[in-house]
Amino acid sequence: FAIHAPYIKAINALKKERNAVILGHNYMTPEIYHGVSDFVGDSLQLAMKASDVEADVIVQAGVHFMAETSKILSPEKIVLMPDMAAGCSLAESITADGIEEMRAKYPGAPVVSYVNTTAEVKAASDICCTSSNAVQIVNALDAETVIMTPDQYLAQNVANESHKTVVYWPGSCIVHEQYTAQDLRNFREWNPGTKLIAHPECTPDVVAEADFSGSTSGILKYVTETKPEKAMLITECSMASNIADELPEVEFVGPCNMCPYMKKITLEKILYALHTMEGQVEVDPVVAEKARHAVQAMIDMSR
Ligand code: 13P
Ligand code: SF4
Repeated sequence: FAIHAPYIKAINALKKERNAVILGHNYMTPEIYHGVSDFVGDSLQLAMKASDVEADVIVQAGVHFMAETSKILSPEKIVLMPDMAAGCSLAESITADGIEEMRAKYPGAPVVSYVNTTAEVKAASDICCTSSNAVQIVNALDAETVIMTPDQYLAQNVANESHKTVVYWPGSCIVHEQYTAQDLRNFREWNPGTKLIAHPECTPDVVAEADFSGSTSGILKYVTETKPEKAMLITECSMASNIADELPEVEFVGPCNMCPYMKKITLEKILYALHTMEGQVEVDPVVAEKARHAVQAMIDMSR
């Protein structure tokens, strides 16, 4: 951390001056995750924190849809995005027109949109979900057929655990779709005894091959509780780096895949954002109001 120390010091001092908090996703690099984040977690935990945190400024150390979600839930706060180009292949795969297309195809079916979507898509949806509550939300809906957007693999994984008919949009995460079931079988052969732990944005084949599947917080909980001798996290690279220090008894083995969007966030950019207050995320108030219903409905069902 020595080379990062001046940035960490400057950011932590500016946070106090601005009455700011940094919400860090589990995929941030360790110097952001451990060095400057006030709260860390998965998408659901960060959304919940954004809705009740006391601060004037939220710095979103994550990707753009997360910052929009924070602004939707806390419109009175300034939400800073250290790099506006930190997108997400899932959020970019669908627009509000896509939601209307799905509604026309499956009349009467409720639309559950992953939080990895733009505010416009959330506004056009009935309820949001994250990977940690998707099964619970789909099962609770009063409908036999449920539309899930935009992650086809999350939708298929949810369908495998639910008694509902799930129809879906063909989006995918460029990080998780790269893993194949054959990769996992090879990993097992090379590293006997390793627990394979996959994020549900992976394909159903990969999830079936894994020992456990869960959101990033679900992964942390599983590893903390079971303390396997060796673990391979079938997800973004920083996840294992961030939790390895607290779990010295677990050996984390690679390989892993990097998210180019998450990796756009750096200490330098966080410092610049806090210093200049540039990169403020705005959501049209009419869109935000509709999107808030979908996000709040999810939060209410997850408490
Ligand atoms: P969770 O942290 O909710 O598991 O989501 C992972 C993700 O894809 C964030 O981009
Ligand atoms: Fe999007 Fe996948 Fe990156 Fe998460 S890991 S931000 S889902 S591209």
